[in-house]
Amino acid sequence: MDHLFSPYEIKGLQLKNRVVMPPMCQYSVTNKDGVATDWHYVHYVSRAIGGASLIIIEMTDVEPDGRISDYDLGLWSDDQIPALKRIIDACHEYGAKVGIQIAHAGRKAVDAAEPVAPSAIPFDEKSKTPRSLSTDEVKDMVEKFRLAAQRAVKAGVDVIELHGAHGYLIHQFTSAYTNKRTDEYGQELTKFGKEVIQATKSQMPEDMPLIMRISGREYVEGGYGINEAIEFGREFQKAGVDMFHVSAGGEGPIAAAGRPGTHVAYQVPLARAIKEALNIPVIAVGRLDEPELANSVVGNEDADLVAVGRAMLRNPYWALEAATVLHKEIDIPTQYERGFPSR
Ligand SMILES: Cc1cc2nc3c(=O)[nH]c(=O)nc-3n(C[C@H](O)[C@H](O)[C@H](O)COP(=O)(O)O)c2cc1C
Repeated sequence: MDHLFSPYEIKGLQLKNRVVMPPMCQYSVTNKDGVATDWHYVHYVSRAIGGASLIIIEMTDVEPDGRISDYDLGLWSDDQIPALKRIIDACHEYGAKVGIQIAHAGRKAVDAAEPVAPSAIPFDEKSKTPRSLSTDEVKDMVEKFRLAAQRAVKAGVDVIELHGAHGYLIHQFTSAYTNKRTDEYGQELTKFGKEVIQATKSQMPEDMPLIMRISGREYVEGGYGINEAIEFGREFQKAGVDMFHVSAGGEGPIAAAGRPGTHVAYQVPLARAIKEALNIPVIAVGRLDEPELANSVVGNEDADLVAVGRAMLRNPYWALEAATVLHKEIDIPTQYERGFPSR
């Protein structure tokens, strides 16, 4: 019987348990150069010591204007590889596998002088109006994702996650709400995402899985729902996605009806729907802080992996504590054994 602390395997990726640290922007690059700092090192390596089996490094952008803020991580230059490699090597040393979320913020690039997007529609009345990318620029953007993926592999990642959720560039193309183009990238809303997937895959070893984060539904008035997400997910799966990381919303102002996600496990039904409809492994995320609850998501086969975000900001050793609460086997670092006397 599978549970939160049973091992898991997908392609060449072997995980010691089902606990994932999801990508969480730290806005902690000090020199505005996209290079990871000691903050990132301590932040990620402590979660590796804390027992998470897979750590997905925060949104890391393919060009400077693809950053939400000037303090985000980047992978547009080879100079950004060594600091990431140092973090990844140390996480490996402490028993975690590492992924990185490759992204472009598109119209949500707050610090960009002129953000770019599929169409010139601002996020809200306070945001800059983005410039619509030309068709050639869209093709160049695919190439930027390819190069970032190549650098991620050089830095030693075990898996790559593409950020196709939360209203960032890939989502902006996939959504009819933000993509009003008349060229090939508007006629087929999934074309940009599919090309990014194929370009990313071309840089990855054959047995390395590709994860894509998607919003399983939108929160704007008239936004898409889970049925549409299943349909574009099917296209992305055919293009090479091995696993979906199912989140929601982020594309624009929340509809008058209000934000749906307020309860524990609020996004699990979306993850389960994608898993069932596409017969593909999924990561569930969103208020899964309670060990019993997180365990049930795996045990009930709602999802294959469980990501724990904010609870891991509070407690880097969340996985060690959860295993103790659930009376499951986990390797406690020798140095910390006396902190877990009940075992
Ligand atoms: C500080 C912070 C930064 C985040 N940055 C990212 C990000 O870089 N990429 C992303 O896809 N989601 C990001 N998220 C969303 C989380 O990955 C996660 O989906 C969300 O917090 C819900 O999970 P939780 O209830 O376990 O925290 C961020 C969340 C937080 C709290």
